[in-house]
Amino acid sequence: MSLYRHCLIKSMNCMKVSSSDFSRLFHRKSALRCISFSSLISSRTSFDLGRSPTRDSSPNKDYYYITTPIFYVNAAPHIGHLYSAVIADCLHRYKQMRGFTSKFSTGTDEHGLKIQQAAEAAGKDPLSFCTEVSEKFKSLFQSSQISYTDYIRTTGEQHRRAVEHFWTVLYDKGFIYKGVYEGWYSTPDESFLTESQVADSKDKNGKPIKVSLESGHQVEWMKEENYMFRMSEFRPALLQWLRENPRAVRPTKFYNIALQWLQEDLPDLSVSRQRDRLQWGIPVPGDPGQTIYVWLDALINYLTVAGYPEGHSQWWPAARHVVGKDILKFHAIYWPAFLMAAGVPLPQAIYVHSHWTVSGQKMSKSLGNVVDPLERSQQYTADGLRYFLLRQGVLDTDCDYYDDKVIKLLNSELADTLGGLLNRCTAPSINPEQVYPSFCGLCFPTEYVRGSSERKAVPEDYRLVESVSRLSAEVEHHFENLQIYKALETVSHCVRQTNGFFQRHAPWKLDRNNPQDRRWLDTILHVALECLRVYGTLLQPVVPMTADMLLSRLSVEPSRRGWEDLNFLTRYQGENCPFEGRTLGPDTGILFSRLERTEKAECNPKKSKKVK
Ligand code: MSP
Repeated sequence: MSLYRHCLIKSMNCMKVSSSDFSRLFHRKSALRCISFSSLISSRTSFDLGRSPTRDSSPNKDYYYITTPIFYVNAAPHIGHLYSAVIADCLHRYKQMRGFTSKFSTGTDEHGLKIQQAAEAAGKDPLSFCTEVSEKFKSLFQSSQISYTDYIRTTGEQHRRAVEHFWTVLYDKGFIYKGVYEGWYSTPDESFLTESQVADSKDKNGKPIKVSLESGHQVEWMKEENYMFRMSEFRPALLQWLRENPRAVRPTKFYNIALQWLQEDLPDLSVSRQRDRLQWGIPVPGDPGQTIYVWLDALINYLTVAGYPEGHSQWWPAARHVVGKDILKFHAIYWPAFLMAAGVPLPQAIYVHSHWTVSGQKMSKSLGNVVDPLERSQQYTADGLRYFLLRQGVLDTDCDYYDDKVIKLLNSELADTLGGLLNRCTAPSINPEQVYPSFCGLCFPTEYVRGSSERKAVPEDYRLVESVSRLSAEVEHHFENLQIYKALETVSHCVRQTNGFFQRHAPWKLDRNNPQDRRWLDTILHVALECLRVYGTLLQPVVPMTADMLLSRLSVEPSRRGWEDLNFLTRYQGENCPFEGRTLGPDTGILFSRLERTEKAECNPKKSKKVK
């Protein structure tokens, strides 16, 4: 019967009924009828990053809504938190470049036992405690160029209203009932666990304890009267949703894990705690003796930001959630089940990333190996840290963080190769007029013909032009496949090729007063500057400040930094180049300073020498 109920809600959703119509209709039991479930889950067949607005004819074609998990405020941010945010920020910026109107939401998860206990331990009232830590996340994100459009705190008033409404819909539809929960609970994970999800272990004093198999955190036995959600009823519908939408959870590795969970039993879920145990949370509407389970409260944040319950239909269908692998079950099983029950369409996709370890070990306060992202972004610059995380981070597998690796990578790819190339093309000794010089088709004819007297380009140069011409399509492909590291690898390869081009032709040896030499010298600079323009444009989602500095130096105005401006070397194709002949922008210093290792893995930017 309950499946029929949520079928009805789904169908009403498709019909775009208002929320008041919605609840009125719900109470009309006579309206209940069976509707084919598959037609209601989603009409979407593919869950990609969203198609280009020019190619998509769906009503919300221009909208993109990306979220990070909301962060617990029991401790200060670490590098793993920043990683979730940097991935989402990169996709948000990329989608904006592609012409989408993108909403990007992040924020803090402030309710629950874990926060209540952390505030108590700090001797602070919970709200001031939450505000303090939430501000730390906000300032980390601001200094890391995380360009969120919405910052949500679950202690906010609008969120409370959204949660109360959502709860009431579930309750009125009979998906929530009062029962007794008896079982294991992990406070650090705020998660209920079955017997098969826990294992025997010992605490640091050798006392036997039970721990969560997944997180390793200690669990405790609890028995209390709770409200339960009829999760078990949703197993067939969840299976069907995943089977019909193989790209709903990405990468595939995590999709398979979610599918595997659904082969097992899916017990009903406790969705409240007794108020005498947990005061720091939203009371159950109509039953102030119970507090809403923090995960139900937290997941609804995505809807709150979209405008739920009144006006979420513009943004909601475009939702994509970036999450770490530890919270996959909450997003790929619980959240879709809650949404189905409430009659709200499911998000477009869940993008899952793996974890950062430190020297092979899990990051933890007790091991004292937590990497502070604020400190590191001061050492390496915000762009440096962003570049490292996205260049080294692979979604499917855990990645190891260590400072030497950061320094080597940034020195090699940002300081020496990219910065070095800009330095060479803009050095007063090579480019004294500080211009984007002319391209000469005689020196670099479209086709490679042996023996022409004016032709200077050699076969390797044609390979460079080919690689850079293909680059934007390749980067697009990798971004769409969530393989940002591959996009950066491809760019980096092209930057090296361009340096090779410069080195091969040694423009510093050419005689500016000889007209033939001069034409070739200008052509070398033109080609290299065109390459740099493409790299700067493509790197904007990853290193926004460095890309801005680079493009400003090349005098590329902000309105010419979009995906549609990526046409490379138009002069070579016989078309005009809007940049040819322009005076370069002012020299605002070194693009990316080399980093030097000092004691204790600390490092300082070192002033690199500029070519005079
Ligand atoms: N509050 C919940 C999320 C609720 S969303 C409705 C939560 N918060 S968290 O602060 O613990 O984690 C936030 C994000 O940081 C998660 O995506 C998590 O996977 C990520 N990371 C935490 N440790 C991490 C690493 N060591 N490495 C990479 N990311 C990790 O869970």
